[in-house]
Amino acid sequence: MQAHKHFLSLADLTPADLHRLLDLAVELKREWRAGGNAPLLKNKTLAMVFTKPSLRTRVSFEMAMRHLGGHAMYIAPDEIQLGKRESVPDVARVLSRYVDGIMARVFAHADVVTLAEHSRVPVINGLSDYSHPCQGLADLLTILEYKGSIRGLTIAYVGDANNVTNSLVFGGTLLGAHMRVGSPEGYQLRPDVAARAAAFAQASGGSLTQLASPQDAVRDADVVYTDVWTSMGQEAEAARRAQVFPPYQVNQALVNLARRDAIVMHCLPAHRGQEITDDVADGPQSALWDQAENRMHAQKAVLVTLMG
Ligand code: CP
Ligand code: NVA
Repeated sequence: MQAHKHFLSLADLTPADLHRLLDLAVELKREWRAGGNAPLLKNKTLAMVFTKPSLRTRVSFEMAMRHLGGHAMYIAPDEIQLGKRESVPDVARVLSRYVDGIMARVFAHADVVTLAEHSRVPVINGLSDYSHPCQGLADLLTILEYKGSIRGLTIAYVGDANNVTNSLVFGGTLLGAHMRVGSPEGYQLRPDVAARAAAFAQASGGSLTQLASPQDAVRDADVVYTDVWTSMGQEAEAARRAQVFPPYQVNQALVNLARRDAIVMHCLPAHRGQEITDDVADGPQSALWDQAENRMHAQKAVLVTLMG
């Protein structure tokens, strides 16, 4: 990631960048488990700008900064009122005079791009309508831990092809995985995302396949991944989506079509009984809690790389 000052999308990275981040995350996780991290970000402050709710992103970034000897400042949606009380460029100009890094969770991806363009300090995308690269990095770390490598694996995503899917598909195709996305018509990958990921796959030896059938998507897969049917900001479409997505529910019958040693993933929060059933979320193949923990370790790697 040396060439990149910000962390906005996994599609901005090379496979080598991604491998470096993952290696660093593994090292920082090992160090933390062995007693604590070195204070690589001593006296550094990360501003965390939220325009949407969060559990994992807020707490994992705050603890990551604390473990590394730094400090994180939580800024709630009604405080800055990004783009309403003050323009996005002005927020970037001012905030970056005070702090050493900015993490922002936004609606429009263009807002995080604009923040980066006008910031003197690194900007990290903490979720936009287009991508969730911190989640994607934590997902790759989790798959690596369970499966030993990413290359050659079949990773199936089932449900709404959303921000989380985009990051997973970029990460997987960069590292040589066979990505399958099983989504209903109208909820598939954006054509530009699919084209980009297909190009990554061609270079890495991986592949990208979009399917309408959730059963075909998960058959013999190593990983079965899902996310909510209605993302933050899409609440007005919730009723319509609730009619479309039930055949895409990740339940035990669907998981049984994957490999016997397949793991199940979900970025959380889960809507239990909708996109995932309790028995799967809490079952022996669930990687959900390790995946959530890995947000903290993956983000430490990003923070140290950009702000260290
Ligand atoms: N997965 C994730 O980003 O969770 P939060 O919305 O709780 O931060
Ligand atoms: N796709 C979901 C992910 C939440 C972490 C959303 O954007 O709401």
